[in-house]
Amino acid sequence: MEVAAAATAGAGVVELQLDLLEAAAPTEREAKRRRVHPVPAGPPAGAAAPGRRSCSRRRRAVQRLFQACRHVFRGPGTVPSPGEVQLLRHMLDRMRPEDVGLSPDLSFFRARDATRGGGTPTITHTTIYKCPNFSMVILFLPRNAVIPLHNHPGMTVFSKLLLGSMHVKSYDWLNTADPDPSSATSTTSSSSSDGPCLRLAELVVDDVFTAPCDTSVLYPTAGGNMHRFTAMAPCAILDVLGPPYSIEEDRDCTYYAELPYAHHSLVAAGEDVERGQGQGHLAWLEEIDMPRELKMCSVHYGGPPISDE
Ligand SMILES: [Fe+2]
Repeated sequence: MEVAAAATAGAGVVELQLDLLEAAAPTEREAKRRRVHPVPAGPPAGAAAPGRRSCSRRRRAVQRLFQACRHVFRGPGTVPSPGEVQLLRHMLDRMRPEDVGLSPDLSFFRARDATRGGGTPTITHTTIYKCPNFSMVILFLPRNAVIPLHNHPGMTVFSKLLLGSMHVKSYDWLNTADPDPSSATSTTSSSSSDGPCLRLAELVVDDVFTAPCDTSVLYPTAGGNMHRFTAMAPCAILDVLGPPYSIEEDRDCTYYAELPYAHHSLVAAGEDVERGQGQGHLAWLEEIDMPRELKMCSVHYGGPPISDE
């Protein structure tokens, strides 16, 4: 049987096999649900015993990160303090690919082209740990893969690019005190019976990041809560989300289409826009269904295990 997605372990590292990823691509709905119901974490099946010193270093790094997360994330409706953010950021800044069982020598990261037959590259994710207060996941993006513009409702998210290079574009709502885009008095939203429901957002990040680089942090209403990743080279991104996505707790992922500010500028004549940092930093975002071309699948975490005892 040709398996399409697998994480196998050799000398304690996760080996992603792109050939295997394609055939296991789930349906869109399955993919979306899997994002909030990932497979449980666990040690790699059949992992060879690595050197004692390197294994210990790796285990300590991810274990320390886990313990810090357990201390920092206190559940829905809470945001880590500035000091706690600094703590996690510092720990993540020092994380290396080997700390979660990865290496730039893996075939996944040396691949020049992830697509076969011109299809959209499949994005893979693996969950290191998940509880009601936070989750630790790794995203694997083949070259040219795109995670479309999406939000992180009520969440604080730390993203550490471990390997690769990606373009990041992120937005925050221009007026966070105006949560209802259908409000008739709003100057930063637009809604009518014959048009789409749009809301004005401000550009936060539009840049290329190449590992090794510092950790980025987004907050419920700041730091670029809505973002899009485009892989310039095969990427591995370690994400810490607090709290995690949850359909049951109304924290599902929402996707957006982006329209230039000028596309709908007549609606936005209010002071907020006039005082904005320039129209080039503004865009209208329209809520959309999960893009059909987005293909995601999950694999078992095969890096150093953590203990929650
Ligand atoms: Fe995200």
